[in-house]
Amino acid sequence: MGQATPRVFIALPLTEDQLQPLSDWEIVRRAAAGPISQEELREMLTRATGYLGSAQTRVSNELIDAAPNLRVISNFGVGFDNVDLEYARRRGIDVCNTPGVLSGAVADLTIGLMLQLARGVGDAQAMVRAGRWVKGAPPLPLGADLKGKTLSIIGMGRIGCEVAVRAQAFGMRVLYQDARPDCSPPDGACAVDFGEAVRQADYLSLHTNLTTESHHLIDAAAFGAMKPTAALINTARGPIVDQAALYEALKDNSIAAAALDVLETEPPAKDEPLLALPNVIITPHIGSATVETRDAMARLAAQNLADCLAGRPCANIVNR
Ligand code: DGY
Repeated sequence: MGQATPRVFIALPLTEDQLQPLSDWEIVRRAAAGPISQEELREMLTRATGYLGSAQTRVSNELIDAAPNLRVISNFGVGFDNVDLEYARRRGIDVCNTPGVLSGAVADLTIGLMLQLARGVGDAQAMVRAGRWVKGAPPLPLGADLKGKTLSIIGMGRIGCEVAVRAQAFGMRVLYQDARPDCSPPDGACAVDFGEAVRQADYLSLHTNLTTESHHLIDAAAFGAMKPTAALINTARGPIVDQAALYEALKDNSIAAAALDVLETEPPAKDEPLLALPNVIITPHIGSATVETRDAMARLAAQNLADCLAGRPCANIVNR
């Protein structure tokens, strides 16, 4: 090819088989496990032409400046708030993501969290393990049926639509706000404005991208407008919610509960106030974490990277 073979840096522990689309390139894999530091990433990007890494790992403009050969950032994940897209574009770098393949897994988790909020399976299990099985008496406060309840979806894209279909199968009424033009919400789901979605929700579920517009979209005013019996579910991005305001709303019971797979700071500090509240469930950003979905994400991220490096069309570039 006349030039040195482009070097691609793979920051995640993917298999040879998953990386097959990149077999023409020189692959440099990260030896260590666990999250990569900005210093290590900078070092690895200095000589890289392509990079495949978690959508949760920040690739700052400073890192981009330190990577003169970089042409592609292939995110393992549907999110792309880890990169300044416009800055990358100006530097001639394509940024890609892995949409679609993880929508079902994130929707499953969303419904799982909603069921947990409604039925308290975790609390019930903890009670049994603690030896407190009280025969004949309701051992815990009674749960709630999902049937007949209203789910409001903020951000009706691929994941939001998958959540809506599942919620309707449980007999829920589905409202949504901010539908993407390329997604078709299921029949029976109703488009409403943001205020209506917030006011009517028994469950308010977030599925929008994190952008400057959606940063702290769910704030003290939104919590003030929600029903006191309502719960918030966030499987999208932590900073969409003003976490300090959420803490106040949960502490004062101005909303009933929250289930969060994402936080403003991940992992949270040990003294994160939300961790001390009984009416919040927190999981460690596991929306896409199934064997099948992670495999599909790996293959798509590798294919995106290979296509962009080879100058082939790639449908998953998010910054052109
Ligand atoms: C995504 O796909 O963006 C997930 O949040 C993992 O980063």
